[in-house]
Amino acid sequence: MSPLEVVGEDRVVHVRAPGKINLSLRCGPVGEDGYHPLVTTFQAVSVYEEVSARPGDGVSLTVSGAQAELVPTGPENLAARAAVLLAERAGIEPHVALHVRKDVPVAGGMAGGSADAAAALVACDALWRTGFSREELTELAGELGADVPFTLLGHTAVGQGRGHLLSPALVHGQFHWVLAIRHEGQSTPAVYARFDERTGGRARLDPEADVALLLALRRGDPGALGAALHNDLQQAALDLSPDLEGPLEVASEAGALGAVVSGSGPTVAVLARSAQHALELSTTLAGAGVADEVRTATGPVAGATLLTHR
Ligand code: C5P
Repeated sequence: MSPLEVVGEDRVVHVRAPGKINLSLRCGPVGEDGYHPLVTTFQAVSVYEEVSARPGDGVSLTVSGAQAELVPTGPENLAARAAVLLAERAGIEPHVALHVRKDVPVAGGMAGGSADAAAALVACDALWRTGFSREELTELAGELGADVPFTLLGHTAVGQGRGHLLSPALVHGQFHWVLAIRHEGQSTPAVYARFDERTGGRARLDPEADVALLLALRRGDPGALGAALHNDLQQAALDLSPDLEGPLEVASEAGALGAVVSGSGPTVAVLARSAQHALELSTTLAGAGVADEVRTATGPVAGATLLTHR
């Protein structure tokens, strides 16, 4: 019997997974595994990747949407690797036609590729009826990349280790963000390497440093959250992309509650008081010409979610 007959040719599974921003990122010196120990607070925001999975012959992948031409479609793509890893652990042959509809900026510091991988894990698990638990999928996610477990989980969480060991954070209400996006991405390893140069390997991690940020989230206090936004990688990201000063300065002058480079950048996340304030800030940022694209988003939102399934 061919793989298509086994699963039924007309089956299709749609999953969406959110991009993230880092509300705080504290970074220690590089470890022997080439990764940096982190204490970071992630928030999933309403910018989504959508992955569909259909029966296929082997693993194939197509990509559409914003910046699709920048995404590799071979076996190195993280969504394709997710499908192969899941099949391997289930002890089956990987047969799936994946399609990724992109909306999270490519190489933007918002974990778009990680969201694709998280969505592909959930989609293939449903398509192949392999029945992995969320814990098992999270374990596989951690093998694929540092940010994949968070895009699977969603909401708001503190990440430790490489960023993959997660504890959910208590959050009251919704926060309103403006995302200043640059179309030219930024290399994550290059930013971490610049961070090591700047700190000479002497960076210290203080796990208590984000008490004020976590309290602001619990109280739903956007003013306090804006003041607590922090990124140890920000200066390294600015060294590589000095033009990121633009959105940070304009946001501050325009009365934003806070602004921070997300992860390794180049996306800048700007916090507003309300949905209306976010619209006003987005108009100001777009008018100032300091970003290729400006969007509003809310957070927190759910992680990788099965949309339809037949
Ligand atoms: O895990 P992921 O593939 O997303 O990481 C990409 C790169 O970012 C790693 O190869 C490493 O150079 C860097 N990184 C790091 N420390 C982390 C996360 C990522 O140095 N905690």
